[in-house]
Amino acid sequence: MLLAHALGLARLDLYVHFDRPLAPAERDRVRELVRRRGDGVPVAYLVGEREFYARPFAVTPAVLVPRPETETLVEAALQTLAGRAAPRVLDVGTGAGVIAITVLLERPDATAWASDLDPAALEVAHQNARRHGVLERLVLRAGDLLEPWQEEPGHGRLDAVLSNPPYVARGDPLLDPAVARHEPALALHPPEPDPLHFVRRLAREAPAALAPAGVLAVEVGLGSAAEGLAVLGAHGWREARAVPDLAGIPRVLLARRPAPGA
Ligand SMILES: C[S@@+](CC[C@H](N)C(=O)[O-])C[C@H]1O[C@@H](n2cnc3c(N)ncnc32)[C@H](O)[C@@H]1O
Repeated sequence: MLLAHALGLARLDLYVHFDRPLAPAERDRVRELVRRRGDGVPVAYLVGEREFYARPFAVTPAVLVPRPETETLVEAALQTLAGRAAPRVLDVGTGAGVIAITVLLERPDATAWASDLDPAALEVAHQNARRHGVLERLVLRAGDLLEPWQEEPGHGRLDAVLSNPPYVARGDPLLDPAVARHEPALALHPPEPDPLHFVRRLAREAPAALAPAGVLAVEVGLGSAAEGLAVLGAHGWREARAVPDLAGIPRVLLARRPAPGA
């Protein structure tokens, strides 16, 4: 991937032109990329792109590199939205925009809002929305969790609040040091040493934003699902369950809005 990127070729062309010698400038470009990869810089940052749900998305060091686990969240959200016409969804902490944009691409009748604290991340999401032709169905706003959406005039109620929030506590020994060094701290770590910080906040704050049958889908880290489900249950969320990712790890908490007055 690095070689193809440095030479401006498709990967297949590397095989077709396997015996073409490199010009000195090309060799320097490849060497520099390999050196940075050796420092632990994610390939996605070096080539400026990552695939998500079989589509290419631009990424920069301002955003978390989208992970395959998050496709489980999108899949679960699409299933719950299957019976609803013209669904309205909010992607909280959108980063590169992969969740909102994929839902919009899979559901051409949907409308989405997406928030992020970091305006630089929203620029990447904007670029991706334009690239995938969904900009007119997506409102991108900077701010804290649901706040930017609440401030939108005439925002109505949502069918789903979706989020892959920061959930790795600072100093977690399981966190790859290269990830901690290169991916944005704001995308990785909650503001306090509680992996469920944002689940607790969404459990409290999301009901007011959702239509009566609305759902919350939120990604959690390894070992957090059982406690996360208990948090949702304590706030009256209904039919709460954990959906496993492809590795069988309970990864996405899915629940229906608490009954009004609960
Ligand atoms: C784990 S990343 C997820 C990015 C993207 N949704 C994905 O799945 O690849 C979390 C994102 O939440 C944003 N964020 C952190 N705190 C936030 C807050 N209080 N309100 C809104 N967004 C926040 C970060 O800037 C980051 O882009």
